[in-house]
Amino acid sequence: MADEVKNFKVTIDNISIDVAPGTTILNAARMIGGDVTPPAMCYYSKLQGSGGKCRTCLVEVAAGSTADPRPMPKLVASCRTTVMDGMIVKNITSDKVIDARNGVVEFLLINHPLDCPICDQAGECHLQDLGYDHGKESTRYKFARRTFVREDIGPYIQLHMTRCILCYRCTYVADQITNKRVHGVVDRGDHAAISTYISKAIDNDFSGNMIDVCPVGALTDKTFRFKNRVWFTKPVDAHRNCETPGCCGKATLWLRGDEVFRVTARKDQWGEVQSYDGKTGWICNTCRFDKKKTSDWIVEGLTSISRHSVIGANKYKTLEMPHETVQKVMHGVRPKLLMDIHNVSEVNNPNIHLSELERPAKGTDFKKASQHPVNEDKAEQEAQFGKTEK
Ligand code: SF4
Ligand code: FES
Repeated sequence: MADEVKNFKVTIDNISIDVAPGTTILNAARMIGGDVTPPAMCYYSKLQGSGGKCRTCLVEVAAGSTADPRPMPKLVASCRTTVMDGMIVKNITSDKVIDARNGVVEFLLINHPLDCPICDQAGECHLQDLGYDHGKESTRYKFARRTFVREDIGPYIQLHMTRCILCYRCTYVADQITNKRVHGVVDRGDHAAISTYISKAIDNDFSGNMIDVCPVGALTDKTFRFKNRVWFTKPVDAHRNCETPGCCGKATLWLRGDEVFRVTARKDQWGEVQSYDGKTGWICNTCRFDKKKTSDWIVEGLTSISRHSVIGANKYKTLEMPHETVQKVMHGVRPKLLMDIHNVSEVNNPNIHLSELERPAKGTDFKKASQHPVNEDKAEQEAQFGKTEK
């Protein structure tokens, strides 16, 4: 009988856990969960060979092992360093780590534009989250930022190279789950860029998964571009009987009313595509881009979203409304007009079917419908409370 493999004991931020030999520090920390887990911008557990590029997961090893308890001289990338028995690791309890991570974020933001207000990834961007936790309020960088010639990589995916942090995840997706990789990182150093090199369109059945693994807004869904902010949509879990070999058929639909704005693979708590029966739940381009009707899917129920995510904002299952005080102090005038932007903005008018537009939505798409709901509101209020003086 083979000898039983002895687990290694590792302590991360004063919390101990037993893990199998060969486990990386990052995965051991994920088993503990919570704040102890270092952020990871390039590592992706479902993509072989990923990690070791971005340095956001740096940790301090205060003791290498029971056999050799000397500290490691430099911070190490937790996604690429395996645990040893008796290892002691510091993540959020180390000032050195926090300082280094702040520096890494500053480097990542040297060239990344701060265009979150117009970026479709806003609200689900890992760099945005990292920026909130570790970013500085202003930049020290005074030189010209990298710019790239705009490149068309096909009908479904929009490439914004200025936002790319060169994590290589999309190239691993192309290598490992599509049968013909036509893109990669070309050039080196400051000129390094994701490109199809000869602007060859990426049209593989599974190419859409590159959008899901991209941690920033460098690869976004063209069919969803500028149609809505993610936090205004309602994510639900759904499945369909997909016949494309390799497609799990399980997805998240992002709805507004009954309109399906976009379809993505289902994500886990680390922002990675979930696994089913030991297989990663990648979805094919037919499910992602062509099945945009709720009738194409069997809806299972609301997607569970972390309560820290902006996507979960205003989507409570049970909500106890606070007492309305503005109405009281304003002598009965309802505060609706002042405070409820949804009532005066037609952007969320369910009569406009943005998902059916073959292009990003424009201001003119809302113009027709913005026939003064403000005035109707006002008339209604005046009928109820009489004219208010200015
Ligand atoms: S495009 Fe996105 S996934 Fe690809 S290397 Fe750049 S940041 Fe990473
Ligand atoms: S996640 Fe470890 S180096 Fe990027």
